[in-house]
Amino acid sequence: MLLSDLEYILLRLIRRFVLKGHVIDSVCRFIPYYQTSVGEKSPVQIVDLYWKYCLYAGINPVGKTILEIGAGCTNGTAYEITARGGYCAAFDPSTPLDRKKDEEIFNHILKRHPYLDKGSAFRIYELRDLPASSVDLVLSHSVLEHVADMDDLLKQLNRVIHSKGSMIHVVDYRDHFFKYPFHFLKFSRPVWYRFLDPGGLTRARVGDHIGVFRAHGFKLDVLEREMNVPAIMKIKRHIHRDFRDHSLEDLATSSAVLLARKC
Ligand SMILES: C[S@@+](CC[C@H](N)C(=O)[O-])C[C@H]1O[C@@H](n2cnc3c(N)ncnc32)[C@H](O)[C@@H]1O
Repeated sequence: MLLSDLEYILLRLIRRFVLKGHVIDSVCRFIPYYQTSVGEKSPVQIVDLYWKYCLYAGINPVGKTILEIGAGCTNGTAYEITARGGYCAAFDPSTPLDRKKDEEIFNHILKRHPYLDKGSAFRIYELRDLPASSVDLVLSHSVLEHVADMDDLLKQLNRVIHSKGSMIHVVDYRDHFFKYPFHFLKFSRPVWYRFLDPGGLTRARVGDHIGVFRAHGFKLDVLEREMNVPAIMKIKRHIHRDFRDHSLEDLATSSAVLLARKC
């Protein structure tokens, strides 16, 4: 076993079994290679990315009905999207709204957009609360890598997106213990989920996602893709056989931006 494996396993066990709930909020500043969700700090950064990729895809988000999935513990991105002219609902099935953080983020955005109405962006906990064919554009940032049941999610999104609707998903395929971007591929499914998974990190690869979108009838394009070949080559011999069906390109992909359109 490599020294890096010992460090990795130890810190993953601590993250999994010791640092839970609010404890992580208070101590995360001192944990090496840990990052909080970008949306909690800077919804502007995420919405800038969304706007950039909309431009690449030839989509004008202004005036569109937008659904952001996996919004996290605030509606910050939805407020920022609404301030820039979209109509946005924030959906997150498993992270409750943190009212204090949400208020802080809203007040921060209000400084730049003084006419923003808090009620114009809203939060939903069930996709079935949205009428069929009511959404023009679905957006997400650092979410698909956490979705345990992509089939169920795509079934539901297929219902709410109208026939000319699109989706843009920014996906982070790295191990979220960022010092070792692919160490999580070394472990079998049972070991990962029982002992090491920090919480809903599925280890799905970009090829898995492309396949499931196409299986649900979406036309899928990869707008941008980054690979970290040196990092995957370092651990190539130790990748668990659970991943043997994946190409090296698939395994080396560290991030991707997926554009899905209804055919
Ligand atoms: C890493 S956080 C990203 C939060 C925010 N988008 C950001 O970039 O800061 C991942 C979020 O995905 C959400 N999530 C997990 N499974 C989901 C699902 N099936 N549908 C929608 N969101 C989901 C989690 O609750 C969590 O809030």
